[in-house]
Order: sequence, then C-alpha cells, then structure tokens
Amino acid sequence: GGPIEVDISQLRPGEKMTILWRGQPVWFLRRTPQMLASLNITQSLVADPLSKRTQFPTPPWAQNQWRSIKPEYLVVVGICTHLGCSPVDRFTPGPQPSLPSDWQGGFLCPCHGSIFDLAARVFKNMPAPDNLVVPPYHYVNDRKILLG
Ligand code: FES
Repeated sequence: GGPIEVDISQLRPGEKMTILWRGQPVWFLRRTPQMLASLNITQSLVADPLSKRTQFPTPPWAQNQWRSIKPEYLVVVGICTHLGCSPVDRFTPGPQPSLPSDWQGGFLCPCHGSIFDLAARVFKNMPAPDNLVVPPYHYVNDRKILLG
C-alpha cells in the first residue's frame, strides 16, 4: 500500500493508538510534558541517544532527543529490532517487575526483555541492537499525518 492519512486529533495527552501500515503496527503516542521530561533522564541510559546508528537508520529529522518531528507526537513502528516481537506499553513510572527501579515509562519487549524509553530508544546492554524504527511521515496539518 501507499501512504495513508492518519487523524491524530482524537489522541489525548498520554494516549497511544496503533495503525496498521504495510502489515506493520505503527504507534502514535501523544506525549505529556512529563513524558517528554523523562527523556532528559533516560538520555544517559539509552544506547544511541541521538539515533546515529545505521542498522535501522533513523531519518535525519528524527535524529533528536524525542525522535520525532513535533516533540509531542512519537511515531514509530512497534516491532522490536531484535527478533521482531511487539513491545508492550509500560507508561507508569516507578518500580515494577522486569523494569529498573527508577523506571521513567516506556516500552518492554516480552520476548527477551529489551526496554525502550518514551522516545522508543533502546537502553544500553539490551538484546535489541537499535531503537525502534521511525517510518516516513509528515504533517499535512495539525490534525493529520501522512504516513508512508
Ligand atoms: Fe525484543 Fe528479543 S525480540 S528483545
């Protein structure tokens, strides 16, 4: 399939929706100010904070701390870069099973335990070799994203 238009206007702060695109789940997460602030804390904990790695290249316009065009909206393919499992949301900060005690919120891959922050950046020393993939997209207007 070609590009698809995605209406993000119904997303509330802190909410994520998933759109199937070319057989892949693409996540749209509207981050709260607190979620964005957590990226300052995880900056030193993730393996490639500015997405410079090239195995799963990040578009230049997403090679920034929030890995997106507009900081408020994260758009990534929800497939682990290790062996292709689907990471699950762990947005609530604080201690919980399989997560660091100083957890700031992010995603956990159930297959081999890779963890990702709220910019889908993989933590250091995880099985996953790279951050989650940022697909091609751009804003048509404030309410609509063209994906693909
Ligand atoms: Fe995600 Fe292995 S598939 S950690």
